Amino acid sequence: MSKQAVKSQAANRKPSADKLERKVKALLAKMTLAEKIGQMTLFTAMWAETGPTIDRNFMQYVREGRCGSIFNAYTADYTRSLQKVAVEETRLGIPLLFGFDVIHGHRTIFPIPLGEACSWDLALMEKSARIAATEAAAEGIHWTFAPMVDIARDPRWGRVAEGAGEDVWLGCRIAEARVRGFQGEDLTADDTVLACAKHFAAYGGAEAGRDYNIVDVSERTLAETYLPPFKACVDANVRTFMPAFNEIAGVPCTASRALLTETLRHKWGFTGVVATDYTAINELVPHGVAADLTQAGQLAIEAGVDMDMQGGVYFTQLEALVNAGKVSPAAIDEAVRRILRVKAELGLFEDPYRYCCEKREKRLILSPGHKAAAQKTAEKSLVLLQNEDNALPFAKNLRSLAVIGPLAKSQLELLGNWYGAGDGKEVVSVDAALRAKLGEKVQITTVEGCDIDGEDASQLKAAVAAARKADAVLLVLGERGNMSGEASCRVDIDLPGLQNRLAEEVAAAARGKPFAAVLFNGRPLAIGRLTKAVPSILEAWFPGTMGGQAVAEAIFGDTNPSGKLVMSFPRHTGQIPIYYAAKNTGRPISNEKYTSKYLDCPNTPLFVFGHGLSYTTFSYGPLRLSATEMPKRGKITAAIKVTNTGNCAGEEVVQLYLRDLVACVTRPLKELKGFKKINIKPGASAEVKFTITAADLAFVGPDLEPLVEAGEFEVMIGGSSSAPVGGRFTLLPAG
Ligand code: BGC
Repeated sequence: MSKQAVKSQAANRKPSADKLERKVKALLAKMTLAEKIGQMTLFTAMWAETGPTIDRNFMQYVREGRCGSIFNAYTADYTRSLQKVAVEETRLGIPLLFGFDVIHGHRTIFPIPLGEACSWDLALMEKSARIAATEAAAEGIHWTFAPMVDIARDPRWGRVAEGAGEDVWLGCRIAEARVRGFQGEDLTADDTVLACAKHFAAYGGAEAGRDYNIVDVSERTLAETYLPPFKACVDANVRTFMPAFNEIAGVPCTASRALLTETLRHKWGFTGVVATDYTAINELVPHGVAADLTQAGQLAIEAGVDMDMQGGVYFTQLEALVNAGKVSPAAIDEAVRRILRVKAELGLFEDPYRYCCEKREKRLILSPGHKAAAQKTAEKSLVLLQNEDNALPFAKNLRSLAVIGPLAKSQLELLGNWYGAGDGKEVVSVDAALRAKLGEKVQITTVEGCDIDGEDASQLKAAVAAARKADAVLLVLGERGNMSGEASCRVDIDLPGLQNRLAEEVAAAARGKPFAAVLFNGRPLAIGRLTKAVPSILEAWFPGTMGGQAVAEAIFGDTNPSGKLVMSFPRHTGQIPIYYAAKNTGRPISNEKYTSKYLDCPNTPLFVFGHGLSYTTFSYGPLRLSATEMPKRGKITAAIKVTNTGNCAGEEVVQLYLRDLVACVTRPLKELKGFKKINIKPGASAEVKFTITAADLAFVGPDLEPLVEAGEFEVMIGGSSSAPVGGRFTLLPAG
């Protein structure tokens, strides 16, 4: 079929806005209050456990028209059987909406979002979300609780794994790409799902990096740091939002009218559905802002919450609240209208079963194309943290290789946390991938050496012996998959258990041989000790279904790592929160005593934001600005020549940072404002150009609105956030 024919078919399927509104209005007019509350109720099925409570009667509620949406149910067969009950057995036959946490792939699992973000490849991220949506949609899912767009600067917090790192500008671009990927251009298409911007807001600011803890940030920090990626999602037409579990300055987000109605709907114009996080309305009671569930329900609906996930508070309390005159029927109607509207946008009233399709399920799930994309994404997410003496890549003519470490044979762990409907059995471990790649020619000895986090030292000796005998040694270290993600915070973010000791003892035996470590983990780690023991370290994150193969290719130089960190790696947990876009303070660090620093640790991180090496090297020429003055409505071009000075082709992420030297409020020392990912052949150069306009110079003014102020700016372009200042220009006043 021609592209145009496909498009016009989609257009025919897509209900017109008028038709859609008429449908919703007509349906609403027929509904009883109980049926309306049913639409505002989301219960979990029992296929995945993502929270503390499960009400096993969910099917009965669906049958009674008292539950309009289900999550944690998938496969075409199962979702069809549930949908049938809603469509055929309820009075109005309103189809169910099926949600699921499709976070980094559905069955073909991609790298965790934090790892994938290190690719700095927006098209790749859009594609991985697209593939995740395609697989999920074939299994009856209409709605993913993703992307998570929480800016995170505290790696103790386990949920950093689910986001895009510490940077606001990059976080916005990645949020848009992921929303586009999940939702596509046409929600009625059978391979698109509703996206959900979560967790609104500032969940990443949890005090002490402890999940669910309070957040106490200024209005300014909220506006500058935490809100922009959510606004970017609204601008990308995300159709659902999830309020965060946390409070901000005393107000739990689920009860925050300021956030959910004033900012989200009135200021940003969001028209979709706000659905809570898991039992978040109930939690207003332990938060201490509601005396009981009745008051909790009232607070939530007054704040602007349309749908209650799993808590059953709307389910049990709303009717009485309406009858007592405490909640207006109009507020209920408004919420139900929004929910019916997204069901209509998905085309569910035309065909409630359009998403459940065994044929598509069979054809698409774990298809060769999806697996190839997952491998490519895993390859692009690899970050070469250090490579002393070019210990990597290993030469292919080795006779023997020792593969040592508690993650060497892991399959399931490579999926990381929250791997949807993924299956560890589909994963090829690093050990198996290396054996498959190298064949009989290289003799591989594999020793785990120690557990991921135990104190059992009995295998250390065997590991050292294996290292002594081999031509080259590869350590496979890191965290267990469930050591990051929700409710998985750590106070000590070094390698757990005996892994440092293993690395150090093996190092003594590996001296003089090619020696490297690959890491699987869900957060930045404070791995100062490891950097001293091992010359080369390849950060692989939790790379997903095809992670083993991706690592094997990179270790032997068949691919060249090109990822760059999207979160700083601290030297020590005591430096946290640590991020590149810091402020200067009134007493910037110097050798003087009374300046902003520690007695026992530098201020700088172990690896900076934007850092990542390659098997080749790049040199940067002088930065050239097209002018030294910029009119307010004008623009300036910043150009730089990048040369591949090494021996192999490689990709480089060329990053643009700006600093506003003097403003009416303090500004960070540098902020990312653009990047280009380029591929350069050895010996060749590329000219990279950035256009800077006033929009890049805007900041949050004293009234918390965007402001562009005349004055001087510094420009930095380079391969990480440590790029030196290469030029300055002045933004002229208007007029
Ligand atoms: C998490 C959400 C998730 C939800 C449903 C919650 O515990 O915070 O991110 O979407 O569970 O599984």
